Amino acid sequence: MTENENKESKYQPRGKIKINTPPPPLQSAPTASVKYKDVKHTIMIMSGKGGVGKSTFAVNLAVTLAKKHHVGLIDADINGPDDPKLLGVTKEKLYTAKDRIIPIETQFGVKVISMAFLLPDEKTAVIWRGALRHKAVQQFLEDAMWEDTDYMIMDFPPGTGDEALTVSQLVPQADGVIIVVTPQDLALLDAQKAINFAEQMHIKVVGVVENMSGFICPHCGKKTDIFKTGGAEKMAEELGVPFLGRIPIYPEIVETADNGVPAVEISDEIRTIYEGISKKIVDIVEKE
Ligand SMILES: Nc1ncnc2c1ncn2[C@@H]1O[C@H](COP(=O)(O)OP(=O)(O)OP(=O)(O)O)[C@@H](O)[C@H]1O
Ligand SMILES: [Mg+2]
Repeated sequence: MTENENKESKYQPRGKIKINTPPPPLQSAPTASVKYKDVKHTIMIMSGKGGVGKSTFAVNLAVTLAKKHHVGLIDADINGPDDPKLLGVTKEKLYTAKDRIIPIETQFGVKVISMAFLLPDEKTAVIWRGALRHKAVQQFLEDAMWEDTDYMIMDFPPGTGDEALTVSQLVPQADGVIIVVTPQDLALLDAQKAINFAEQMHIKVVGVVENMSGFICPHCGKKTDIFKTGGAEKMAEELGVPFLGRIPIYPEIVETADNGVPAVEISDEIRTIYEGISKKIVDIVEKE
């Protein structure tokens, strides 16, 4: 028998695959938190796919909102915490006072908590199973000083995993989910799962943002739709959720991210886009 034939017979289908054991009942689904009560509005930033710009969006939105409101940012991406780098506070460590965590104050008016502040350095990997990540997010919500916070922005890892589930269960009064999406078909398809997650958790979808929506050449002004464009707006319309706006690809966004200064702080064009999006968000959230 040749090696190929051998391989083929080894991988023959063996009839229908059946999952015999029914999933166990949810053992201890957390109920609404009584401790997380000082925050007026909680907004969850989610996506179906990774790398679509959630953290970039969360940080720039938080900084934009902080011009008029008291804003907190929870980096709920426990395994891949990026927000401190985007805000230029990588050297900070968390301290407690009266057994409560003191969020890090940034120069942009946003207070932030992240797993990154608990790691010895930027290269250390967090290898935690769901239960531990759940506990960390719960502590960030419940055990930190969030008094007088108007807006809490929460940056999640991609998909609909433990962290988002934890927040949905602990904060059922959350004002809603914002879905960040890039315009390719695959990203749009995955974004629908995040919208479906919000619906199943009975959390409102505040809206959809199309990020990396074309590239405007800084030399000739011509727009090139690298990942296509417009798909997110069409999807939002079809699903009956608000469309909040488009953010093109800007080289400044990458540069500023690397330097720890949010792009809205250095580019008038990007600031104007974020002001438009945050106004829509405030209108939607405060109308409720
Ligand atoms: N509009 C944009 N223009 C140019 N670059 C962008 C834009 N938005 C995000 N980026 C860049 O894309 C990369 C991924 O962004 P980011 O880390 O915010 O994505 P993410 O969705 O949070 O990723 P993850 O799923 O890993 O958490 C970063 O290098 C960021 O600087
Ligand atoms: Mg991220």
